[in-house]
Order: sequence, then C-alpha cells, then structure tokens
Amino acid sequence: GACGKGQEAANSPGSTAANAGGKVYIVGTDAAYKPFEYVNDKGEIVGTDIELIKKLAEIGGFRVDIRNIGWDALFQAVQNGEVDMAISAITITDERKKTYDFTQPYFEAHQLIVSRADHPVRSVEDLKNGTFPVGVQNGTTGHEVVKKILGDTNPRIRSFENTPYALKELENGGVGAVVADNAVVDLYVKENPGSKLVTADDPMFEKEYYGIMVKKGNAELLNLLNSALDKAKKQGLLKQIFGAGAVE
Ligand code: ARG
Repeated sequence: GACGKGQEAANSPGSTAANAGGKVYIVGTDAAYKPFEYVNDKGEIVGTDIELIKKLAEIGGFRVDIRNIGWDALFQAVQNGEVDMAISAITITDERKKTYDFTQPYFEAHQLIVSRADHPVRSVEDLKNGTFPVGVQNGTTGHEVVKKILGDTNPRIRSFENTPYALKELENGGVGAVVADNAVVDLYVKENPGSKLVTADDPMFEKEYYGIMVKKGNAELLNLLNSALDKAKKQGLLKQIFGAGAVE
C-alpha cells in the first residue's frame, strides 16, 4: 500500500513531480554504488539507475519517491511492501527469481577482481591460491562467486555492508582483493589513481543482467515498467544513460 501519497511524497527528498497527478511508487535503493546510485555533494540520490527510473516514470506517467535504504534492507523491504520496487544494479538470478519478479534486463555486467598494484591478483586462480582476506559486499553476486571459489565458510571471506567499505579496506591493506561489479570497480579505480589499484577479469565470471525488482505477483507494476522500458529502449535512451553495457 505504498501508493496514493500525493502531495506528501511530492515534497519528500528524491521524489519527482514531473507527472503531477500520477501514482507515486516508492523506490528503494542502496545509494553507495557509483555510477548506478550514490549520494552527491548536495545530498541528493543520483546515478544512472536513478536517471533510468525517473525516465521510466516520465514515459509511464507515474511518479517516484526514491529512498536510500541500504542493500541488506532492500530485499525485505520489497517483500513486505515497504517499497514498491528496488533499483540498485540488481542482478537477475534464478535464486532471486524464486522470491521476486524482475523486469526485462537493462544492463549487462560481470564481476571483476580488484587488488593493489604492489600485490596484484591476476586471476581466480591467484585468488584461490592466496592467503589474504577477500572483501565483498554482503549478499551480492560478488559474494556468491567468492563463496564458490573459496568455499562457503572460508574465513578468508570478509563481507561488508556496502562496496565502498570493502574498497576502503583494500586501500588500507585489510583485504588483499575485492570482487564486485565491473562498472563500479572500473570507476573507483579511475577516480582513485593514488591508490594504485589494478583489476582482473576471469573466464569464470559469467554475464549478469540488471533488472528492476518488484514483489512477486505485482504484475501491474511489472507490466508498467516493462512497457516503459520497451519504449525507452526503442528511443535509444538506455544507451544514452548507461553507454556501454546498456541492453537494447
Ligand atoms: N549486481 C550485484 C548483485 O545484484 C551487486 C549489486 C549491488 N548494488 C548496490 N547498489 N549496492 O548482487
């Protein structure tokens, strides 16, 4: 029951009044995943995912109230109706599809290993053979793949509440590598040249596709989002927003 909040929601941070009168959907995200969703200097929730959902709202004639609730809370929040949908660079997986519904894919990604140039980790083999701790964001596909490589209960796995914490720990020397989504890692390395980080891809990292997640069975919202995505794709908007990686 997160709809029909009208005025109230229009004035709250993150909402857009672009479609006055349209239904308001509450959108949850973990805004610590630049370039997809992050908080800018002004305290606003911005990023390519945010641009996308605002564009879809414009196309579909609805409004969005975007809330930064963090990754760990996100799944539960969709499940219990606290938010209507989640957009957060979420990979569509078979496991998640058991509990949630996803839109058609809008972005193609894969995992990357990032390490310090003075102790480079060049492959999954290097990762497996090392003795250093490996940082991941808790409950992500990066976490899953590291569990697969090192074994579910390997004490070398250190899971963090968000990806920036894991990356900070890599710079501090607390972990020897981090595994996370390619675009996020690539941008971090580029924006922090002083940290001297290097990335490595590996054939075992499979293609992943991001989708917008809704409560299982919410066909009305799913259809609305999917048809807005159809239109956005036809207009070339995904390429415009995401560049390389956009799923047309
Ligand atoms: N794509 C990965 C996953 O779905 C990581 C997403 C993390 N997103 C975020 N906003 N922290 O598991």
